[in-house]
Amino acid sequence: MRYVQFGRTGARVSEVAYGTDNLGNPYGADEETSRQILGTVLDAGINHIDTADSYADGNSEKVIGKYLEDSGRRNEVFLTTKVRSRVGDGPNDVGASRYHILNGIDESLRRLRTDHVDLYLIHSFDRTTPVEETVRALDDVVRAGKAHYVGCSNWAAWQLAQALWISDVNNLARFECIQSEFNIVRPGLAVETIPLCIQEKVAVTAYSPMGSGFLTGKHSPSGAEPETKFGTRDAERGGSLKRKYFDEYRFEVVEKLRALSDESGQPMIRLALQWVRETPGVTSPIIGARRVDQIESTLDALSEDAPEGVMSMVREIAEEFAASTPVTYPPPVQAVQISTG
Ligand SMILES: NC(=O)c1ccc[n+]([C@@H]2O[C@H](COP(=O)([O-])OP(=O)(O)OC[C@H]3O[C@@H](n4cnc5c(N)ncnc54)[C@H](OP(=O)(O)O)[C@@H]3O)[C@@H](O)[C@H]2O)c1
Repeated sequence: MRYVQFGRTGARVSEVAYGTDNLGNPYGADEETSRQILGTVLDAGINHIDTADSYADGNSEKVIGKYLEDSGRRNEVFLTTKVRSRVGDGPNDVGASRYHILNGIDESLRRLRTDHVDLYLIHSFDRTTPVEETVRALDDVVRAGKAHYVGCSNWAAWQLAQALWISDVNNLARFECIQSEFNIVRPGLAVETIPLCIQEKVAVTAYSPMGSGFLTGKHSPSGAEPETKFGTRDAERGGSLKRKYFDEYRFEVVEKLRALSDESGQPMIRLALQWVRETPGVTSPIIGARRVDQIESTLDALSEDAPEGVMSMVREIAEEFAASTPVTYPPPVQAVQISTG
């Protein structure tokens, strides 16, 4: 496993993170499977584990906390969690207010059985709370030693820029990371956010790097659930995979990647993950898996790099997609590199 610098910080994280919304989740992995997956991930050298207070209604944090305590591996891990999603029925059980953040961190630490997380993220933007209130509350979390770094997830570039400005002028802990969706067929992050993060040396962690399974090539345009080695859980999760990915443009990309994979002998998963990982400005993709055989197969794909000749064809496929889809995407970020002087 290779390790990369986490944005401008001195911390080193594995070039791939593992995301845990499947753990302890009835639609994902039961506790025993979750523990096996976590063991496999850590044994492979992945040190960045991503969770959130809302994953599996808090059960993902609980399963991780118990596993890390039982195995004594807490200090091997760069542990990320998030706050902001609704976690209860009360008026303050949601949002990025000072009230919810300061309660939320304590609840997460209790479930995770640790005295700090390495990274604490605001899960999505909260239009009802002033950004300054959120930034000041996160600064207090850092000063209390409950999180080492803070950041955001799913924020627009202008929202992140506002937070960076507020922390800069007030000498507060600044957002060191943004976590957002990014893959070959959902490359919108490259429009504004990644160039901002390159300029400001903010870490970018990319969720759904395999398009939540779409870029493994196991789905078909008919929408019928294919009988594959790995099956699918989309039906149980409200069909977001179909809403985000099932269109003619994206299936065309999958077929091009499949042909390239067959011709070159490089697994599709390798091509999809390497494209994300090699995009300038991306710190690490966050991979998901709900079964041990899935994580093993993904780790196998990650055990080697595809040659540059093959990757240049993957970039061509990605660029053609960006040019042909009805949504206007920018030129790939390679072409809009900014000097970081
Ligand atoms: N901040 C946010 O708002 C946000 C949003 C989404 C995700 N995330 C984070 O990012 C993590 C990863 O997201 P993701 O699950 O969308 O990532 P992904 O890596 O693109 O997709 C993972 C999914 O693909 C399928 N899969 C995994 N390995 C496979 C293999 N070897 N062969 C075939 N299929 C395989 C599994 O789904 P099936 O078995 O169902 O096909 C698995 O759950 C999450 O766990 C979470 O930590 C964050």
